[in-house]
Amino acid sequence: MKIDILLGLQWGDEGKGKIVDALTPDYDIVARFQGGPNAGHTIEFHKTKHVLHLIPSGIFHEGKINIIGNGVVLDPVVFRREVESLGIDIETVRRRLLISLKAHLILPTHKLLDAAHENALGDFKIGSTLRGIGPAYTDKAARSGIRVGDLLRKNFREFYNEHVSEHLRILRGYGRSYDLQDLENEWFDATEFLKHFKTVNADYYIDRSLREGRCVLAEGAQGTMLDIDFGTYPFVTSSNTVAAGACTGLGIAPSRTGEVFGIFKAYCTRVGSGPFPTELNDENGQLMRDRGNEYGSTTGRPRRCGWLDLPALKYAIMINGVTRLFMMKADVLSGFSEIEVCTSYTINGEEITELPYCLTDIEKLNYKTMAGWNCDITGYKSWDEMPVALRHYIEFIEKETGVPVTIVSVGPDRSATIYRQ
Ligand code: GDP
Ligand code: IMO
Ligand code: MG
Repeated sequence: MKIDILLGLQWGDEGKGKIVDALTPDYDIVARFQGGPNAGHTIEFHKTKHVLHLIPSGIFHEGKINIIGNGVVLDPVVFRREVESLGIDIETVRRRLLISLKAHLILPTHKLLDAAHENALGDFKIGSTLRGIGPAYTDKAARSGIRVGDLLRKNFREFYNEHVSEHLRILRGYGRSYDLQDLENEWFDATEFLKHFKTVNADYYIDRSLREGRCVLAEGAQGTMLDIDFGTYPFVTSSNTVAAGACTGLGIAPSRTGEVFGIFKAYCTRVGSGPFPTELNDENGQLMRDRGNEYGSTTGRPRRCGWLDLPALKYAIMINGVTRLFMMKADVLSGFSEIEVCTSYTINGEEITELPYCLTDIEKLNYKTMAGWNCDITGYKSWDEMPVALRHYIEFIEKETGVPVTIVSVGPDRSATIYRQ
C-alpha cells in the first residue's frame, strides 16, 4: 500500500479539516505530519462544529487510528484542552490516537519567546499565531529540543530545567517581564495528562500498517505558500508544509507515497503579514470575507481575501506533485456577477506565468474575467446540478493546471461535498 497525502496549496485554511474528515471512511489511519497548534482545522457535521489544532481530523470516526507524527510540535496544554473539548469520552480518544515518541514539545518559554521575537520585529511582524511554533522548531534544528519520548525520563524535571535556562537567558535579553510559574504548573499538569496516551515509534507503526494492507492518509497543516522553503519567506511558518514534509514528518520513503490531494479555495485568503498579489482591499474582498466567514480558526483574526492566483496555484501543484485537486468554498463565490482569475504577472514590462523570487516585484496582475453564477449551490449534491458558469470556471482551472478537480465543496458541512470521478 502507498500513503496518500492531503495538503493545502495556498496560505492555509483551505478546508483541509473538512475534507480529511469526509475522506476518513476510505482510510484506516490518518496521520498529521507537521505544524502544531498554529493550525485550526474545522469540521462540521450533525449541526456541530469542531476546531482541531493538534489532533488529526479523522478522530470523529469509530475504528480509525489517528497519529500525531514526529514532524508535529505538540503543546501539552493545547492538547489537553483539545481532548477535553472534543465531545468524545477520553477512553475512546485514547483508543483512536497514537503519538510519535519523536514529536517535539512546545514549552511555555517557546510561547514567551515567540511573543518577544514577534514584538521585536516592529513593522515587519510575521503575524505569527504566537503558539510557540517558530521557537520549538528552532530548538529542534539546533538539537536542543525536548521530545515526547523524553517525558519518560526519570530525571525529566532536571532535563527540562537545563533546556529552559537558555530560553530564560534570551528572554532576559528582550527585557520582557513574564510570570513563568503559572505557565509551568499548567504545562507540567498537562504532561501528566499526555502520558496517559499511547506513544509509539510511528515510523515503524506506519510501515507495518502499509505492509498489512492498511490505507493511510497523511494530513498537512498550513499551506504551500507558508512552507519554510517554498513559501513567501520570511512570512511563512517554520516547517515544510509540502508533500516532502509528509515523508520527513512521518518517516515514510518517497517511493511509498501515492496520491497527492491538493486543496485550494475557489479564491485566496491569507491571515498574517506578507505578500499576497491578488489581495482585494475593496468591497469584493469584504464580500468574500463576509460570505466565507473568513476569520482565523485559531486566532479569530480577519483573513485577507482575493481572487484565485493561478501562477501561485500552478507552482504549488508542481512542488507537491498534486494528482487531484479539491476545490473548496465554491458557494462563497455565488452571487458575484463576474469572477476574476489571475493568469499571469507583469514584471519589468514582461508578462510571466512563473512565481518570481520576490512577489513584491510584481508590477501588474493580468486577469481573465469569467461569468459568475447567481444561485445558491449549498444544497447541491451532484456535478450535473452545477451551474454552467461554475463548471466553466472549474474546467478552466483544470485546463490551466492539467490536474482534475475531483471534489467540489459547497458548504462547511461534511455532507456539502460533491465527488466527481
Ligand atoms: P483548514 O485549516 O484548511 O482545515 O481550514 P479552516 O478550518 O481553518 O478554514 C476553513 C473554513 O471554511 C472553516 O470555517 C470551514 O468550516 C469552512 N468551509 C470548509 N469548506 C467550505 C465550503 O465549501 N464552503 C463554505 N462556505 N465554508 C467551508
Ligand atoms: P491551518 O493548518 C493559516 C500563518 C500565521 C502567520 C504565519 C506564521 O489552519 O491552515 P506561525 O504561528 O506558524 O509562526 O505563523 O503562518 N499560519 C497560518 N495561516 N492557516 C494556518 O494553519 C496557519 N498556521 C500558521 O498567520 O502568518
Ligand atoms: Mg485553519
